[in-house]
Amino acid sequence: MRTMQSDYMHWAKFKRPVRYALTSSEVPHFHLDQLDWSKADLDCDGASHPRYARLRERIAARYGVAVDQVVAADGTSMANFLAMAALIEPGDEVLVEHPTYEPLLGAASFLGATIKRFERTASDGFRLDPASVRAAMSDRTKLIVLTNLHNPSGALAGETELRAIADLGPRILIDEVYLDAAGQRSAVHLGPAFVITNSLTKVYGLSGLRCGWILAEPELAERMWRLNDLFGVNQAHQAERLACIALDHIDEVIGENPAMLAANRAAFNAFLAGRDDISCAPAEHGITAFPRWAGGDTQCLDDRLRAAYDTAIVPGRWFEMPDNFRIGFGLPTGDFAEGLSRLGRALDDLA
Ligand SMILES: Cc1ncc(COP(=O)(O)O)c(C=O)c1O
Repeated sequence: MRTMQSDYMHWAKFKRPVRYALTSSEVPHFHLDQLDWSKADLDCDGASHPRYARLRERIAARYGVAVDQVVAADGTSMANFLAMAALIEPGDEVLVEHPTYEPLLGAASFLGATIKRFERTASDGFRLDPASVRAAMSDRTKLIVLTNLHNPSGALAGETELRAIADLGPRILIDEVYLDAAGQRSAVHLGPAFVITNSLTKVYGLSGLRCGWILAEPELAERMWRLNDLFGVNQAHQAERLACIALDHIDEVIGENPAMLAANRAAFNAFLAGRDDISCAPAEHGITAFPRWAGGDTQCLDDRLRAAYDTAIVPGRWFEMPDNFRIGFGLPTGDFAEGLSRLGRALDDLA
C-alpha cells in the first residue's frame, strides 16, 4: 500500500509543547521586524506572479547558478515532493538512505516507487559510504535519495563521497536543508546528476515563510515548473516578497546562530564524554545528533523527560532505530544547557 500520510510529521506538529524542546532541529525563529523594510515592499496588488523572477534571481545568485536551474517551492518539503514527482514513475526503483527523514520515504512511496535502502552505519558515524550505496543498487535503480547534512545524525558527506556516488550512474536527490550550517558548497556544483533541495527553514529560522527551492539542470527544472501547475500553481506572492527581503539581509538573519550552534555542540560533546550510557560521534556540524542509548528503546526516555522534566527528545523509532534518539542544537545556549542537564537526570532515573 502506498503511503498516504506522514505519521512523523503529524507527531512533530502536534506533540505537546515542552519548555526545553531538544526535539528542535532549527535555530530560533527570526523576527522579520528586525530588518529594515517597509509595507510598500510587499506588493499587495493581489496579482499572481508566475516563477517570480526576483526571488529566483536571489536564490540563483546565492549559489552562483543560472536562474533557469531554480524552481521555487513551499519549503524543502514541497521541493522534495515536486522533485521526486518529476523524477519517479510508478514502479521505479528508488534507493533511500537508512536511517532517514521519514517524509522522503513517504513521498517516494506515494509516487509508487519500489523503495530499496542503503545503510549509513552508526559505528561509522553514519558516514555516507559509496560502497554501501553501490552494494544496494541494481541496474533498475532510477534515483538515489539522501540528506546532507544527514538527518538524523548531522553527518556531513564530503565532495569525494558525493562524486563517487555520481559515478554510479543514477540521478541523486539531496535534501540540503541542514547543509548551510556546515559551510560546504552545494552538490549542485558537482554535476548534472545532482538535484538539490533547500529552504530558509532550519539554518535561518524562517520556517513560516515556506521559502524553499530545487536546483536542477534547466530541462529538468522546467519539467518541475510545469508539474507544479498541477499542484500549487504559484506561491503566495507576499511570502515571495518577504523571502526576497530576508535574502537581501541574509547576514542579519543568520546573526549569532553559528556561534550559538558551536557552543551547543561543544556542550553536547562534553555531556557525551561524561556518560557511558549514550554513544555517538562527537557533533562537528549542523543542528542534530543521533546518539544510541544503552537502555534500549528511547520512547521511555522521551516519556520520562516529558512527564518529569518539561523536556523532550525525538525517539529513534521515528528514524527506524528505536534505541537511538535525535537531539537538536537549535535552542538558545542557556536553554540548551538546561535541557541537557534535565536529559542527564532522566537518563539517571532510568539507569
Ligand atoms: C531533512 C529535512 N527536510 C525537510 C524538512 C522540512 O523543511 P521545510 O520547513 O523547508 O519544509 C525537514 C524538517 O524537519 C528535514 O529534517
